[in-house]
Amino acid sequence: MRRLVAETQLNVNDLIAPLFVRESITEPQPIESLPGIVQHTRDSLRQEVRALRDLGVPAVVLFGVPSTKDAVGSEAWNPDGIVQLALRDLRDEVGDDVVLITDLCVDEYTDHGHCGIVDDHGEVDNDATLELYQKAALAQADAGASVVAPSGMMDGQVAAIRSALDGAGHEQIPILAYAAKYASAMYGPFRDAVDVTIADGGHRKGYQQDPRNAREGMAEMRADVAEGADMIMVKPALSYLDIIASARAEFDLPIAAYQVSGEYAMIKAAGANGWIDEEAVMLETLTSIKRAGADMILTYFARTVAESL
Ligand code: PBG
Repeated sequence: MRRLVAETQLNVNDLIAPLFVRESITEPQPIESLPGIVQHTRDSLRQEVRALRDLGVPAVVLFGVPSTKDAVGSEAWNPDGIVQLALRDLRDEVGDDVVLITDLCVDEYTDHGHCGIVDDHGEVDNDATLELYQKAALAQADAGASVVAPSGMMDGQVAAIRSALDGAGHEQIPILAYAAKYASAMYGPFRDAVDVTIADGGHRKGYQQDPRNAREGMAEMRADVAEGADMIMVKPALSYLDIIASARAEFDLPIAAYQVSGEYAMIKAAGANGWIDEEAVMLETLTSIKRAGADMILTYFARTVAESL
């Protein structure tokens, strides 16, 4: 009877697996604060994506960890940069079977760890950064990305990327906009995964949203939709279910939610201590994110869920 009347079904079709690929390593590297998740080699990434495909997971989102970083993050648009190489590998490996989403930002590639160009006063220069995102979008699209996902929260980034893609014959590539992305304390393990430390004890409060603000999140999403976003994302997920529900009520576009690294790490840590039932909490949190209105969920549990469903 409970099955019959259940309003929400978590399904393998809802899942997007975030994956890290690191340049010039020969063995996958475990990430201490993300148990079960690794920095992949190009080869192990191929195997992982093939396994996810076989489990029915429809999409992955790729993050690159380059060997060299500089002030502008130029490896983000190098045609031989790690994500671009990985995209070619994966197209070869799985063709069109898996949606290859690329995180589009420069923080993994800059030596100061910010999501853009830093000016003489230590502030991120919004408009100058848009040009970097345009270059990265083209490099990713040329290398075989199915969807680009700008995560830097610069104003105008969706419009800038859309026009760059359209101008280069990539009209068919959709944009999944990290639209309401909060300046959360829950991204810590991710920054370990991509070897990012924001310089001078810095933070992203200048461009990400204040967790105290819900209406501001809606305004950010409206702006991205007006600029041509094809799908919009709320991030993190569990502390922002109200934002997901409001987005669901207002927009008819597909809505994604990102269960971020800190959310995953908290569940894994409590589970490892025997303080919670890890699998039950995993399924409860993901089902709640879907119940709130998400059509798709980026989660480090993607493979585990796909194996258990
Ligand atoms: C920025 C980006 C971040 C995450 C995804 N894209 C880090 C940040 O904004 O500091 C975090 C994801 C997570 O914590 O799982 N490229």
